[in-house]
Amino acid sequence: MTDPILTAEHVQMTFADSEEGFEALAEADFTVYPQEVVSIIGPSGCGKSTLLRILAGLIEPTNGKVVFEGKQLKTPQRKIGFVFQQPNLMPWRSALRNVALPLEVEGIPRKQAEAEAHRLLEVVGLSAFADALPRELSGGMSQRVAVARALAHDPDLLLLDEPFAALDALTRERMDWELLKLVQRQHKTVVMVTHNIQEAILLSDRVFTMSPRPGRFEREVIIDLPRPRSAEDQYTPRYVALARELRQSLR
Ligand SMILES: Nc1ncnc2c1ncn2[C@@H]1O[C@H](COP(=O)(O)OP(=O)(O)O)[C@@H](O)[C@H]1O
Ligand SMILES: [Mg+2]
Repeated sequence: MTDPILTAEHVQMTFADSEEGFEALAEADFTVYPQEVVSIIGPSGCGKSTLLRILAGLIEPTNGKVVFEGKQLKTPQRKIGFVFQQPNLMPWRSALRNVALPLEVEGIPRKQAEAEAHRLLEVVGLSAFADALPRELSGGMSQRVAVARALAHDPDLLLLDEPFAALDALTRERMDWELLKLVQRQHKTVVMVTHNIQEAILLSDRVFTMSPRPGRFEREVIIDLPRPRSAEDQYTPRYVALARELRQSLR
C-alpha cells in the first residue's frame, strides 16, 4: 500500500471574531493518495475555502492537524500549488510575467523564470497569449494562467477552490476537460472543492460530501467510472446513479 500524500485528522476551525467564536468547519477527516483526484462538495458557506486554506498551510486549524508527505503541515509548501476561485493576476504584468512571478520571488533569475513560464503557458494552451495583459484575457484564459502559475514549482499536490465557478457553463465544461487531461498527463494529485456535482463526478476518483455550516465530512462516494473519461460518460446509467447518490446525500 502506498503512503498517503495528504491526511486531515479531525481538522476543525473556529474564527475568533466574536466572544464565543464563529465555527466555520466542524470536522474534516480524510486521506488522499498520490495521483488521486478527490473532490469535496458542499453547500455555500460550509467551510470549503477555509478547509482548502488550511490544506495549503495558509491558516492553522483550531484543532486537529494536516499531514503532507509525512510531515505535519505548518506553513505553505513549494510542493503544494493553489488555484483560487478568482485568478488574482497582477494587472500590470503580462500572462508570462504572472506565471514567472512565484519563481522570481524564489530568487530564480528572470531569464530562467520566464523560460519556465513559457513552458507552463504551453501546458495550459496559452503560448500565443504570453504577452497579453490580464484585462486582454477572457475569464477562462485568466483562470488557465492561474493554473499555470500554480504549476510553477512543479507541485505534487494541486489544490483547487472552485476554479471555474465564475465562468459560464460551457466554458466551465471545456475547462474541466482540459484540467482532467492536464492532471492525467502530469500525474498530479488534486484536491478540488466545488459545488458542482457534474464537475465532481467527471474529474474525481472519490468525492466527499459536506454538511451545511459548520461543515462536517459526511459521505465518501467512490467514482468508479472507468478512465479515460469522456463527455459521453454523463449519459451512462452508472453516472446517473452516482449523480443521484451525491444529490441525495447533499440534501
Ligand atoms: N477569516 C474569517 N473570519 C471570520 N469568518 C470567516 C473567515 N473566513 C470565512 N469565514 C466564515 O466561515 C464560513 C465558511 O466560509 P468558507 O470557508 O468561505 O465557505 P465555502 O467556501 O464553503 O463557501 C462562512 O460563514 C464565512 O463567512
Ligand atoms: Mg468558498
